[in-house]
Amino acid sequence: MLADLVIHNGRIVHPDGIVDASLAIAGGRILAIGAAEAMPAAKETLDASGLHVLPGAIDVHVHFRDPGYTHKEDWDTGTTSAAFGGVTTVFDMPNTVPATANAQALAEKHAIAGSRARIDYGLYAYLGESSIEQVPEMVAGGIIGFKLYMGETFGKLATPSTGAMLEAFEVVAPTGKRISLHAETASIMARREARMRAAGRTDALAHLAARPAVVATEAVSRAAVLAEWTGARIHILHISSAAELRPLAEAKARGVDITGETCPHYLFLSADDYARCGGVIRVNPPVREADNQAPLWKALMDGTVDMIATDHAPHAPPEKTRNDIWSVDCGFPGVETQMSLMLSQVNAGRASICDYVRWSAYNPARNWGLFPRKGTLQPGADADLALVDLGQDMVLDDAALHSRSKISPWHGRRVKGLPIHTLVRGRFILRNRTLVEGTEGWGRSVHAIQQMPPAQVRNADKTMQAIIRLPG
Ligand code: DOR
Ligand code: ZN
Repeated sequence: MLADLVIHNGRIVHPDGIVDASLAIAGGRILAIGAAEAMPAAKETLDASGLHVLPGAIDVHVHFRDPGYTHKEDWDTGTTSAAFGGVTTVFDMPNTVPATANAQALAEKHAIAGSRARIDYGLYAYLGESSIEQVPEMVAGGIIGFKLYMGETFGKLATPSTGAMLEAFEVVAPTGKRISLHAETASIMARREARMRAAGRTDALAHLAARPAVVATEAVSRAAVLAEWTGARIHILHISSAAELRPLAEAKARGVDITGETCPHYLFLSADDYARCGGVIRVNPPVREADNQAPLWKALMDGTVDMIATDHAPHAPPEKTRNDIWSVDCGFPGVETQMSLMLSQVNAGRASICDYVRWSAYNPARNWGLFPRKGTLQPGADADLALVDLGQDMVLDDAALHSRSKISPWHGRRVKGLPIHTLVRGRFILRNRTLVEGTEGWGRSVHAIQQMPPAQVRNADKTMQAIIRLPG
């Protein structure tokens, strides 16, 4: 068989080790990994001397803003930025306009993403009080999972009551889809923010004071109880504090199907950066006191936290630089810089590149039913690759970002470790740090290959649907 591409001399990275081998690609899939002499003839070869070959990152948490806020980002700019960051699959959040909260809005987003995305993607559906009835039609319309907001954030999608949340979990559990949670408790934040506003606080640190770690800890604990009761699968987005780790670890120990992600800004930034960054650092949940960082790293190392995602949340510069912190839009771009930030820590010896692959690709693929088509380098898998040069350093520069949003707290930071080539299903999207023309629309929704095993539904006889039936 003639391969489309054979990559020689690269170091192939798996979660459990590195293999110096060649890798052959045919028809968008990995055909073989092995000795150079064992490779089939190929239309093209690439010499990857000095490069590590990683499964492309799967970023389970991005906001590409399209439709609705395309002055912040769109599917072209978002996926271009991702390709520069070694990311080959993203899961896009539903806080667009219209919100991805029914079959029609979902179909509209599929049409836009399908024509513009350069890399693969999954679409989240909004799960709230108003969309419980729409769960079946959204599952049928092709989603990667659900997103539920326990607290208010950009886009102001409604936060369900605990009662509605339980019902939502009951309805989603049998579908097997994972529910990703913005785990911050709305009522605590609303009261604290109102008090702070009344007291005249408008500085950047007031944002952190309004959302202390108890906001997240209470939400994670409550969500875990509801997941345990129903058997729904859940994922805790953007874990920001040491305090959340205990309810997360305890829920795992009880057998709850719960996963968690943290983001580079919680690992690398702290309350000490507010003075430097001002409103640019405003994000939900907030960047916290520095003593949260070491526990988050430890939790990544021991598996309590499963993965790295970015919460890529682009906004326009005027939306990030207002004087009153309460009027600054929350979030900043991250999909392009995550890999370099993390590989810098690999270079510094804090984690191995195998750990990194586990957090960035393997665990995301496994927990959303994409494994072994994605998240791994093995024959039969999609040839989604990030070829990185661990020795190359650069200073992050907001102006050089390919996101439409060119404002972030990373500006001026030195990193070491850079994606050089990014391939999605065998096709170069980024080649020698240059975007390949004509790749717009190459991206495909991954829901079609997702295989979620049936969830362990619990207390099915006590769901709202079960108890409203007349006895007998
Ligand atoms: O800071 C944030 N920005 N946190 C979120 O949860 C949403 C995001 C956004 O969409 O801008
Ligand atoms: Zn988010």
